Amino acid sequence: MNVLPRFLRHAPRLSGLCPAVALSTLAHRPIRLVPACCQNRTLQNVPRSRLVQHTGVRCMASSVQIPSDLLFRQLFDYQSYTYTYLLADCQTQEAILIDPVLELVNRDTHLIEDLQLNLKFAVNTHCHADHITGTGELKKRFPSCKSMISKDSGAKADVYIKEGDRVVFGNKELNVLSTPGHTNGCLTFVLHHDGRPVLAFTGDALLIRGCGRTDFQEGCSATLYESVHKKILCMPADTPLYPAHDYTGQTCTSVREEKAYNARLTKTKEEFIGIMERLNLPYPKAIDKSLPANMVCGVLEDLPNK
Ligand SMILES: [Fe+2]
Repeated sequence: MNVLPRFLRHAPRLSGLCPAVALSTLAHRPIRLVPACCQNRTLQNVPRSRLVQHTGVRCMASSVQIPSDLLFRQLFDYQSYTYTYLLADCQTQEAILIDPVLELVNRDTHLIEDLQLNLKFAVNTHCHADHITGTGELKKRFPSCKSMISKDSGAKADVYIKEGDRVVFGNKELNVLSTPGHTNGCLTFVLHHDGRPVLAFTGDALLIRGCGRTDFQEGCSATLYESVHKKILCMPADTPLYPAHDYTGQTCTSVREEKAYNARLTKTKEEFIGIMERLNLPYPKAIDKSLPANMVCGVLEDLPNK
């Protein structure tokens, strides 16, 4: 008898990877946190409450269940601290990538091929200033893949998306929310299941215990504050939130956590604006290279001065 939950049966079959690898991608599920010494046990023999106890970690989003036939991978770039997300519908094997990084296109390509997925869209949450998107290169590798970004970003893309649109892959879809403030074109993507949000990809609008800068591109602290409170922190408290970056080794947060512990966004709007004004951050080191490249979908040959 197959003792794994249904959502785990898909990933090993598609990828040839062990279930523990698949588990590592599901950051809001308590069973992800089982230490290596327990990985050979059948999960049905270990009470879920004990799995949480094992780690000493309170999983603040444990009640949320993603669809059993959704493949979800969180990938990381050690240079720019960017998270790239691979999502796929296991029934149709249609997939999307959120915020791919140019230097890691080989990694993403191999993973997509190993999992036998069809990459439908490469989506950017916004026009990044800290890395060059892998979108253009992925389109060369996967000719049926289309690039997506907000029109307000000003960047080139095959498909422009805005508030209220849906990013459809197989039988799954992400709802698009406009969350400007870090840049004009910032988007948040939300996946619903059983009538509620179960995954939200917040880009740079909301980071874990922080937020994106507002001192370049079209940054506006007041707009960012409104976006985060009216579009993201109004979701159910246990909604898992996945940012575009993390600089401290964290992978995921929740609405409840950020409403309680975000040092900037728990303040009043006026206090938030003051905090952002006083950050005195250095000039972004990759912006002069990244922004022009991202305006042409990361295709360096398409740069005007080439
Ligand atoms: Fe950004």
